Amino acid sequence: MRLTTISLSLCALAVLGGTLPYAQSAPEDRQAETEPGKKLFNQCRACHTLDRTGDSGAGPNLYGVVGRRVGKQAEFAYSSALLEKNVKWTEEELDNFLKSPGDYAPGTTMAYSGMKDTANRKALIEYLKTMAPAKQHSRARQH
Ligand code: HEC
Repeated sequence: MRLTTISLSLCALAVLGGTLPYAQSAPEDRQAETEPGKKLFNQCRACHTLDRTGDSGAGPNLYGVVGRRVGKQAEFAYSSALLEKNVKWTEEELDNFLKSPGDYAPGTTMAYSGMKDTANRKALIEYLKTMAPAKQHSRARQH
């Protein structure tokens, strides 16, 4: 009985603390989780689009890039430095690339010095994973 009372009041506290709106709405919850990564993607926006219909710009469109093989945007002219890596963009591979593109693929045309903070790279990759077709999205989440 007492435990129930305690958990009920904890629940009430959670409501007062304003966490309930997120608990009730799954999409918003997901949004809150990926918010840091979304902000970090601002560092990439000058060159990359991330939506399904986005065109490639200075860099290739990145919709669904997590779990895809390197160099799959047919209309984009990749450098041989990047194509020669011939990898699949797993989370680990992306992490290595984003840390320092120039070290990962010397000669890459991606003029970005790198994201040095490990936690930031992780948050960014989490966000990239959500920007994918539903099927691929769930596959990427199984890693
Ligand atoms: C100054 C422009 C620029 C910026 C900023 C930039 N990129 Fe790129 N990105 C490129 C170019 C150009 C390529 C193709 C590189 C090549 O072919 O060597 C590329 C390639 C990539 C690829 C490989 C895609 C594929 O289809 O294989 C990924 C992933 C990527 N960028 C992610 C990012 C992320 C994430 C950021 C932000 C942290 C970022 N890039 C910032 C220009 C940029």
